[in-house]
Amino acid sequence: MTQRVAFVTGAMGGLGTAICQAFAKDGYKVVAAYHPEFDNKDEWLKEQEAAGFKDFIPVAGDVSDIESAKTMVAEAEAKAGPIDILVNNAGITRDRMFAKMEKDQWDAVIATNLTSLFNMTKQVSAKMAERGWGRIINISSVNGVKGQAGQSNYSAAKAGVIGFSKALAQELATKGVTVNAIAPGYVATKMVMAIREDVLKSIVDTIPMKRLAKPEEIGALCSYLASELAAYMTGATLNINGGLHFQ
Ligand code: CAA
Repeated sequence: MTQRVAFVTGAMGGLGTAICQAFAKDGYKVVAAYHPEFDNKDEWLKEQEAAGFKDFIPVAGDVSDIESAKTMVAEAEAKAGPIDILVNNAGITRDRMFAKMEKDQWDAVIATNLTSLFNMTKQVSAKMAERGWGRIINISSVNGVKGQAGQSNYSAAKAGVIGFSKALAQELATKGVTVNAIAPGYVATKMVMAIREDVLKSIVDTIPMKRLAKPEEIGALCSYLASELAAYMTGATLNINGGLHFQ
């Protein structure tokens, strides 16, 4: 069998890095997509090489812009071949209580965290269906499942990710292409570490396991969903949150 190609958005963030590493260990070719304004790309690649991951293929683009998504996927296909596995992982926060939230904070989060799924998936899903095999893994959040004060924009986008996954799963069910959402809880990444210290402490206190998730714990779930034996799982939302919320 030829080596499968995985495309991970937001690849150079905490979660993205763990997902790329999990896929590399699984033997896939990994395209690591990053935002053009992220200026630590070379450093990230060096760190990965030092950690034993020397084959990541970087491509730059903005997932919130469909033309950019198109260009990015074309570049990836030229460098790595057809994309078998897409992980829509790129995401941002603009946390603010709704009373104070500005329209640009709403728009930015919806564009990057939800419209990006249209932009990216559009580039690969029909081709996966034609080839009869594909895996689309969408990163949602516990806060898309339960809602979170201060995150009406983010919770709306991440709930949308789940609805999108369920709908597309039905459309592609007979084509060998699965579509699933992962809803992680609070993971030890830069995004979570940006929460004010006292607020984060009170959040961790409410997590039954009393700790944040390790990024690799989410990577392992992506690894499972991308595998051959995950073929019967589609339209699912996998909660991985230390017991913070049960659906
Ligand atoms: N429920 C209800 N009300 C709440 C609340 C809660 N959980 N938290 C705070 N409030 C209330 C406060 O009591 C306060 O009320 P008063 O003005 O009447 O006193 C008001 O809301 C303002 O609260 P803050 O003092 O916290 O306001 P702030 O402007 O300093 O901060 C915030 C607002 C930035 C949204 C801050 O509350 C915050 O960071 N909250 C955490 C949000 C969060 O969980 N983000 C997750 C980011 S990580 C991520 O998104 C990854 C993932 O997928 C999990």
